[in-house]
Amino acid sequence: MHELTGSAVDGLRAAFAGAGYTVDGVAERLGAQANAALARNETAPAVRRTSSGDALDTMVRLFLLQRPVPETLVDKAFPGVDLVALGIVERSGGEVKALLDLRPFADGEREWWVIADLTPGLDGVREPMRPDYVLGISSASLSLIQLTVPIAAERSLDIGTGCGIQSLLLADRVKHLTATDVNPRALRLARATAALNHVDLDVRDGSLYEPVKGERFELIVSNPPYVISPPGGELTYRETGFVGDGVVEQLVRRAPEHLTDGGWCQLLANWTCVRGEDWQDRVATWTTDRAAWAVQREQLDTSEYVELWLRDAGLHGSPEYTSRYDEWMRYLDQHDVEAIGMGWITLHNVPGTLDAEAWPYEIERPIGPHVLHRFERREGLPKDLTGLHLRVADDVIQETTGRPGAEDPATIVLRRQRGMRRAEQVDTVLAGFVGACDGDLSTGQILAALADLTDRPVVDVLSDYLPQVRNLVVEGFLDY
Ligand SMILES: C[S@@+](CC[C@H](N)C(=O)[O-])C[C@H]1O[C@@H](n2cnc3c(N)ncnc32)[C@H](O)[C@@H]1O
Repeated sequence: MHELTGSAVDGLRAAFAGAGYTVDGVAERLGAQANAALARNETAPAVRRTSSGDALDTMVRLFLLQRPVPETLVDKAFPGVDLVALGIVERSGGEVKALLDLRPFADGEREWWVIADLTPGLDGVREPMRPDYVLGISSASLSLIQLTVPIAAERSLDIGTGCGIQSLLLADRVKHLTATDVNPRALRLARATAALNHVDLDVRDGSLYEPVKGERFELIVSNPPYVISPPGGELTYRETGFVGDGVVEQLVRRAPEHLTDGGWCQLLANWTCVRGEDWQDRVATWTTDRAAWAVQREQLDTSEYVELWLRDAGLHGSPEYTSRYDEWMRYLDQHDVEAIGMGWITLHNVPGTLDAEAWPYEIERPIGPHVLHRFERREGLPKDLTGLHLRVADDVIQETTGRPGAEDPATIVLRRQRGMRRAEQVDTVLAGFVGACDGDLSTGQILAALADLTDRPVVDVLSDYLPQVRNLVVEGFLDY
């Protein structure tokens, strides 16, 4: 891919806009069935829907379906743009084939075009991936986008930018965007993606924090190459030469050196669950005295993990599959790894501790606003809650279960519909407390009334229930 100059950018943007090559435009052209099939990497239904030869069909076939297209149609779809000279396509025998993936991406009202390497595995055809493969918008990219706290910032850093997707999404709320990578092709494609979208991106070459020595940022995001694999792993988009989960450890440990006071570092991560150790304790040694939250969304045993990533590399069914499998398992064994945790870490650069938990349940997306909210509450709630006038949040429902005809329920669960969609089992006193939180009486007044009602000393009720009330406020069941 060559540098995208102003005239090439204008030409490409005009061609895309003219053809309606947008997320909605493509969805409408393909229809629900072909769109869903394409999301499963199946192109046949989409080929049937794109036979008109107009500019939109040409673009979809070229970039999304990776089909050869007659050069006359490509010239018509991109008037005045030399896609061959830009390194986006190649021509041979009157036909044109894409060398790169160039696709629309949208988030609400905002719309972009992103340049990355071609999606592997369409229609089940797998070829070995080049070591410097540049990943397009993956489900992991989307998870990080959805995790990112919605703050405006002076400066942000996107480590391992790949095609530049994270920075692109930050562009309308961050003044100076810096992005780093070690893969020269990624650096070129990130620059091209930024140029194509009129985004001013400072792209730098180097490992982790090396290219930003002495600099600080309000926001650091990274979807790093976190795959825990034996030495010699050659796919730069997912592996490094670090031992075990060392890449994630380094990113987390060194984040405070590069964050402003109160700055945020958010990453997707894999961590090893080492025999005889709690993974929470391991991660706590990385976040040390900073406020942090680690959420394990999934835990795989070592064989599931190895299979996942061998398949990702297209090696399932290859002659070396079982030997690679065995070598990988041996490596994990040597490091006493009994499982691998997959999730996310948010570090807020203020004094505090780590909250670490496994939460494999469905959550609201984007979760970023909730992450910010939860930190604000954890850090900002007064020590004494008795003066607060709390209100139960709109999304809380109460579920009771018990024997038919029983006078009292056996269990009462309060469940949130939003954020982490938490569920908390409460007793009748706490359920009564939450039920009375309409902003009228203070927390102290409600708990005193409940003490009276249950014939218990107020001090006991306060010491039993205030910690639980605090938890309900932090988790967003109660607002103040
Ligand atoms: C999983 S991809 C993420 C791409 C993109 N940021 C996203 O969210 O989809 C990881 C990226 O990290 C880059 N990378 C690998 N080793 C690195 C290192 N030591 N320092 C910085 N980036 C690295 C890879 O080249 C790749 O582009």
